[in-house]
Amino acid sequence: MKTSYCTKYGGPDVYQFIEIDTPKPKENEVLVKVYRAVVSPTDGNFRSGKPIIARLFSGLVKPKMKIHGEMFVGKIVEIGTHVTGFNINDMVYGSNGMKLGAYAEFIAVDISNAIKIVPTDLDYKDVLPLLDGGITALPFLKELGNIKAGDSVLINGASGAVGSMAIMIAKHFKAYVTGVCSTNNVEIVSSLGADEVIDYKKEDFTKKYNQYDIIFDTVGKSTYGKSKKALKENGIYITTVPTPDVMIQALFRKNAKSKRACFMAAGLRKPQVKIEDLKYLENLLRSKELKPLHGKDFNLEELGLAQTYVESGHKVGNVTISLINEKENLK
Ligand SMILES: NC(=O)c1ccc[n+]([C@@H]2O[C@H](COP(=O)([O-])OP(=O)(O)OC[C@H]3O[C@@H](n4cnc5c(N)ncnc54)[C@H](OP(=O)(O)O)[C@@H]3O)[C@@H](O)[C@H]2O)c1
Repeated sequence: MKTSYCTKYGGPDVYQFIEIDTPKPKENEVLVKVYRAVVSPTDGNFRSGKPIIARLFSGLVKPKMKIHGEMFVGKIVEIGTHVTGFNINDMVYGSNGMKLGAYAEFIAVDISNAIKIVPTDLDYKDVLPLLDGGITALPFLKELGNIKAGDSVLINGASGAVGSMAIMIAKHFKAYVTGVCSTNNVEIVSSLGADEVIDYKKEDFTKKYNQYDIIFDTVGKSTYGKSKKALKENGIYITTVPTPDVMIQALFRKNAKSKRACFMAAGLRKPQVKIEDLKYLENLLRSKELKPLHGKDFNLEELGLAQTYVESGHKVGNVTISLINEKENLK
């Protein structure tokens, strides 16, 4: 099969594109022909081995996992002898966890991972963003933020993968939603349903006073200290990026009533919990409350280019690699 291959740590040009044997699925695995895979900001950690602490998982001196890419959608072409609940020709989407392997023509996935059949009434391209931003934004808003109707919610990084989902999910919960992005993305964020949009190049939301029940920084570009003033007395600041000030708050003030700050590693939740969230989000796709923000789509050989774009910190929506010949003209 055709695959990307990373044998040493380095920049986006470190990948080789080679042919290797297609894996044979083990007893509890399904072999999936990959249609699309997500390019995410964490790819860079596996490829560069930075920060150094990441090497505890990715390999001390060279990458343990040679084929990167965690989230995929595709068709099952072979099943292991002990697999139940999945059949050949099922379209599935999921995460292969820390084993990665999605930037290849085929991936062998243990079914104990968060893997789920794509409902036949949904487009396979639309379910992939549920895995990327959706199952992050949902628990952040629902479990950490305890979001409810009428809440005033600010989403920082509103044009990203997590941020775009967060806008639509907050609207589903009937919140009043303010999205923060740069001038280029104001229209996009508005079209996602935000009630107000703040262009961070022109206005600093942290200068507001007593305004928000929830501030969700999906990109970790603000700080709790600066944002505190903009929170209502019972408000909460939640962020996808564990900065030291938030971790101190989360550890020592977790039961405080006023102006709390919290972080969650949503990716580390149990597969069954993620699957339940995916079912919830699929229903929002059906009701058209979620309209995924599809970003740029690249070829496998353009993986380095795709990662360079993602690492710019200014990608719009969900960035993908297509492994079948159905490339959209989004570039
Ligand atoms: N904790 C968890 O469980 C978890 C799970 C998933 C992801 N994450 C992390 O969450 C972060 C977000 O992921 P993502 O894929 O959504 O990121 P992303 O798509 O790369 O976010 C990029 C967006 O951030 C916006 N942005 C850049 N600088 C900004 C600023 N100063 N203020 C406001 N917005 C700004 C950009 O908009 P402009 O171009 O308009 O600036 C762009 O649209 C990543 O760091 C990822 O590692 C954490």
